[in-house]
Order: sequence, then structure tokens, then C-alpha cells
Amino acid sequence: MSNIPDRNLALELVRVTEAAALNAARWMGRGDKIGADQAAVDGMRAMMDMVTMDGIVVIGEGEKDEAPMLYNGERVGNGQHPDVDVAVDPIDGTRLLSLGRPGSIAVVAIAERGAMYSPGPIVYMDKIAVGPSAKGAINIEASVAENLQSIAEAQDMTVENLTVVVLDRPRHENLIHEIRAAGARIKMITDGDVAGAILAAMEDTGVDVLMGIGGTPEGVITASAMKCMGGDMQGRLWPRNEKERQAALEVGLDLQEVLTLDKLVSGNNVFFAATGITSGELLRGVRYTSNKAYTHSVVMRSRSGTIRYIEANHSLDKLRRIQTGQLIA
Ligand code: FBP
Repeated sequence: MSNIPDRNLALELVRVTEAAALNAARWMGRGDKIGADQAAVDGMRAMMDMVTMDGIVVIGEGEKDEAPMLYNGERVGNGQHPDVDVAVDPIDGTRLLSLGRPGSIAVVAIAERGAMYSPGPIVYMDKIAVGPSAKGAINIEASVAENLQSIAEAQDMTVENLTVVVLDRPRHENLIHEIRAAGARIKMITDGDVAGAILAAMEDTGVDVLMGIGGTPEGVITASAMKCMGGDMQGRLWPRNEKERQAALEVGLDLQEVLTLDKLVSGNNVFFAATGITSGELLRGVRYTSNKAYTHSVVMRSRSGTIRYIEANHSLDKLRRIQTGQLIA
């Protein structure tokens, strides 16, 4: 088998995000972020090793000592080719899930080995992401007003009709001020900028661009989705303090560098899968009946550009019997 992924791994990855979502959804509204995250990680981990790949987690739950599983550097998959980088976010929107709010998702992305950017110790990244119609129209070094004007022109719209997705954070006070001054509309989200960027990259979702500072892991995962969707993205590392700045310099990171889409995820063999945990605008969440659970997922592949939605109907009884060894092939 080739070292390069030659089949649609996203169709296998969706079982991984489904497993994370099925486990995590039990924790909806229980106010326990750590319990929910552990459940998602356990679900994801159990399925991950069934995927035919030799994966290295590049974007994971953190370093080994703090994360027992899916830590950066961990080998995942069944060990056979292709050789790939893996980025996981077992729950994007942990707070949303723990409070029973809409929009939490389980996400995995993979790309050829060495293709994914490693943000080292830097937790936050400034981001701008758009869909295919505004590809090439963004520049993170330009002003907010210039970007909005250029995106509006590319999309044959006026700035007044553009809608910008922004995480509702005090650090975005200036950004929000500049967007308002430019005349665009704002959709403020409390969490979940991966889903926010995907919605911006899709047509007719009512949002056109994601702007602002969010997690670096989410940045690389978002870039994977943008690659698959034909969208565009730029990022720039955003150290929170002098200590982080020094730590970044020590590992050789360039804090001024414009992280283009290709720098964030290179090549054209990128796969992305996400499953809804709590229902949101992108995906429906997990629903249970007496003996079934229903999931809703999206899977994407960059080479073909195909985006598939997958509805799954899981028999809880059979899954339980498979897990306990009572049901064999
Ligand atoms: P987690 O669920 O992994 O905590 O991420 C939620 C999220 O809203 C991301 O979508 C976003 O990139 C990041 O947190 C922003 O960080 P912060 O909440 O610290 O501003």
C-alpha cells in the first residue's frame, strides 16, 4: 500500500468522530467539562486504532504527561501505510456541551506525514477564513476594513451585506469595533470557531468570513477543512504574554510569519470528519431513543473536493454486545 493516502480515509474517520460524539453526548448539560472530554477521548481512541494508517498525532490533547491519550506525538491507527499526520479535537465546544448549548462537535483531520503545522507552545492564533468565492482575497497583514472590502468585491457583494463570525471575547473589542466601523454585520459565537469557519466557507449559511483569535489546534483543524472545501485561510500566532513569546522563540517559531493555508496544511491529501454532539447550525447532535442513537456527520476530502453528510442509526444493544464480546462475526 502507498505511503500517500490513496483512498477516502474520511469515510473511516467518521467512525472515529461518531464514537467520540456518542460517548460525549451522554455528558450534555452535566456541567462537567473534564468528564465530557474524557468520554470523547475514550470513544475516539477506541476507534482510531481500527483505521488503516500509521498516524502521528500532531494536534492532540497536549503533551503526554498531561494527556493520557491522543497526546502530541502519539502513534495511532493500525500501523499500516499510509503514513499520516493526525489532528484531533474530541470536543470543539466543551463548554457548550457541558452547559447543554448548541454547536459542539467532535473533529478529526488527517494529512500526509509532515503536512500539518505544529504550533509548539502557542495556544492562540489570529485567524481569517473564507469560502471558495473569496479565495485569494484575504490578507491577515491588511486592516479589517481592507479585508472586508476585498472579500465583498470577490463575492460581488457590498461590505454592508457581509457577515463576520467572531468569538465573543474581551480580546476582540478592537476587532468588533473595526468590523462595525467598516459597516459589516457580526455573528457573535460563544465557542466553536471550527464550525464557525466551516459555515463561513459554505454557501448560503448567512456568514461569509471568520475573523479573530482562537485556539491554534482549532486553527490547523480549520485549515484542513478549508483545504477540503476549496476555501482560504491565514493565521498568525498570538502569544498571550512574554513567557509564551520567549517559549515560541526558543523552539524557533516565527511570530510574524503569515501562516498561509498551505503552511498550515500542505499538500492535497487532506481528510476531515466531524460529528455533531449537541445540535447546531452545522450538524445535528446525538439523539437517543430506547435502543438507538442517531448521529449526523460531515466528511470531506481535499483531492476530490467531495463533501458528504452521513446520517447514522446506531443500535445501542448490538454495539454493547460487540464491546462485551457477546456478539461475534
Ligand atoms: P474547546 O472546546 O476545545 O475548549 O474549544 C472551544 C473554543 O471555543 C474553540 O472553538 C476556540 O478556538 C477556542 O475555544 C477559543 O479559546 P478561548 O475559549 O480560550 O477563548
